[in-house]
Amino acid sequence: MKHTGESNDTTAFVAALPKAELHLHIEGTLEPELMFAIAERNNIRLPYSSVEEVRAAYRFSSLQDFLDIYYSGASALLVKQDFYDLTWAYLQRAFAQNVRHVEIFFDPQTHTGRGVAFATVIDGISRALDDAEARLGISSRLILCFLRHLDEADALETLDAAMAYRDRIAGVGLDSSERGNPPGKFREVFRRARDAGFAAVAHAGEEGPAEYVREALDALEVVRIDHGNRALEDTGLVAELAQRRIPLTVCPLSNVKLCVVDDITCHPLKRMLDLGLFVTVNSDDPAYFGGYVNENYIAVAEALDLSREDLAQLARNSFEASWLNAEAKSALVAEVNAVAEA
Ligand code: HPA
Ligand code: ZN
Repeated sequence: MKHTGESNDTTAFVAALPKAELHLHIEGTLEPELMFAIAERNNIRLPYSSVEEVRAAYRFSSLQDFLDIYYSGASALLVKQDFYDLTWAYLQRAFAQNVRHVEIFFDPQTHTGRGVAFATVIDGISRALDDAEARLGISSRLILCFLRHLDEADALETLDAAMAYRDRIAGVGLDSSERGNPPGKFREVFRRARDAGFAAVAHAGEEGPAEYVREALDALEVVRIDHGNRALEDTGLVAELAQRRIPLTVCPLSNVKLCVVDDITCHPLKRMLDLGLFVTVNSDDPAYFGGYVNENYIAVAEALDLSREDLAQLARNSFEASWLNAEAKSALVAEVNAVAEA
């Protein structure tokens, strides 16, 4: 799908597909305009003088390079209304892109570490999620991510704080600096979280080795892998991921921006599909990486010459890999099929 006519077709087809987004950091949806508006009303000084200067700073050479800027942006968020506005802005964009279901990461330690209460964060986010269900028909789940650059004791305290909101949080995840912070560092907190009924996911194989993907499966008993690119370096692991139908939440534009791949034309998504891996396409931190979910689908469709059937498969996978019930999944998959057959 490389030529202009085909490109327009691809854009329209992707837009028409109902989709779920399963790898989305809510703090990573903070667009510079909203960052400035929130910082101003909170009397917070940002280390930038304009929206243009913020956007110009978004050239990253690694995950850590990005994280430093991402945590600095998140420091504008202080009160419930900030978390509400952040989440609502994302949900309106998702709605405009025909996203029907979202499973959203939030990083409470990024905020509690600055003195913002856990309750402030979760109340603001969940009020926006409730409004999205009522007004936009978007269903959702929340996933609490532990910051892996901090120690496990800090994660355990965060899990304790989360227990009061057990009914609003579906799962736990693991994000932030991957290298040097293997999944096994969080074995105990994940065990306790699973015992409390949370589903487990973890970022693995983004910058870290295939061994970290293996460890996320074995030590943390995750039901999905976030990213998983470097799993391709271990053929035995690939076979196991395929055989167990472990979903990988892949983020193409993120991978380009964070130099996980050299170029979008080198992205392994098509290879992953051909290997029988259960892959989905997601935007990760869209305000920082230059595109929301549709832009991610379009980028891989054009660069990897994906067929309509490939794109429909990715949309079906997004629902099948979600935590919706079987009935909701099959209704949404039927909608994908209707678009694909039209
Ligand atoms: N990787 C790890 N941590 C993150 C990311 C990511 O892509 N986005 C936000 N936190
Ligand atoms: Zn991520």
